[in-house]
Amino acid sequence: MKHDGANLSKDDVVLETQGLRKTFGGLVATDDASFQVERGTITGMIGPNGAGKSTLFNLVSGFYEPDEGQVFVNGTDVTDMPPHEVAHEGLIRTFQTPRKLEGMTVREAMLVGPNPQLGESVIPLFTSPGKVQQEESELLAHAEELLERFEIDHLIDQPSTDLSGGQLKLVELARAITTEPDILLLDEPVAGVNPTLANDIKRFIRTLNEEEDLTFLIIEHDMPFIMDLADPVIVLDQGHVLMEGTPEEVKNDSRVIDAYLGGAE
Ligand SMILES: Nc1ncnc2c1ncn2[C@@H]1O[C@H](COP(=O)(O)OP(=O)(O)O)[C@@H](O)[C@H]1O
Ligand SMILES: [Mg+2]
Repeated sequence: MKHDGANLSKDDVVLETQGLRKTFGGLVATDDASFQVERGTITGMIGPNGAGKSTLFNLVSGFYEPDEGQVFVNGTDVTDMPPHEVAHEGLIRTFQTPRKLEGMTVREAMLVGPNPQLGESVIPLFTSPGKVQQEESELLAHAEELLERFEIDHLIDQPSTDLSGGQLKLVELARAITTEPDILLLDEPVAGVNPTLANDIKRFIRTLNEEEDLTFLIIEHDMPFIMDLADPVIVLDQGHVLMEGTPEEVKNDSRVIDAYLGGAE
């Protein structure tokens, strides 16, 4: 699966950033960050706390505007697009802190889709108002299928406020793929999740990657999880890309070890 980044053709790259920079007041959160995500991969993104991982996700998904640099999804320049337009180009992201779905059942949450990235219900994206009812039943069937895939279809009538943290993570994953993205960005998908469910999530990600050609970019602090799942792994430190390599290369790189030791101080 691993290729030399320099030799990738345009079609092989689903996400590319060039020289991204983002500052907050005097703080440089992202500094000349350039990387590519190859189509079909499960690419990991690691780095010490504050390395700029979540900021980078916000930049590529249109939630933040970079001070400098560019973002391309499927070869299209999405740098100045708002989140819902980036979603239309094929990139969907989840959030480190799952959003509250107060007042919604799982069914309703599924029909709303990857809100707030899409801004509103997925229904008007695909159809005219006259067709809404038919579309809605199709979307519902699709939603049920997705919930089955994640083995949570029995929860469809549950108020989302009754779900456990782990169940919410699964609903989040199911909602994220309702619009069939090309690339899904997950921000710490197994943070606070028990080991059994973390293994389920790993299995679901692998299946989606293999069977649905879904490309993943995954931020995760759980090293055994990400090192087992991802290849390649991109390492961020102080806002820039420190290195990229196979899990073995990353684990054995002295710069990576130094960055983590420095970050722990
Ligand atoms: N909206 C914001 N306003 C001000 N500072 C921010 C904001 N978002 C992130 N930062 C800062 O940018 C740096 C990188 O943060 P973040 O991207 O969340 O790191 P990571 O996800 O790698 O832990 C941190 O110093 C953080 O405090
Ligand atoms: Mg973060």
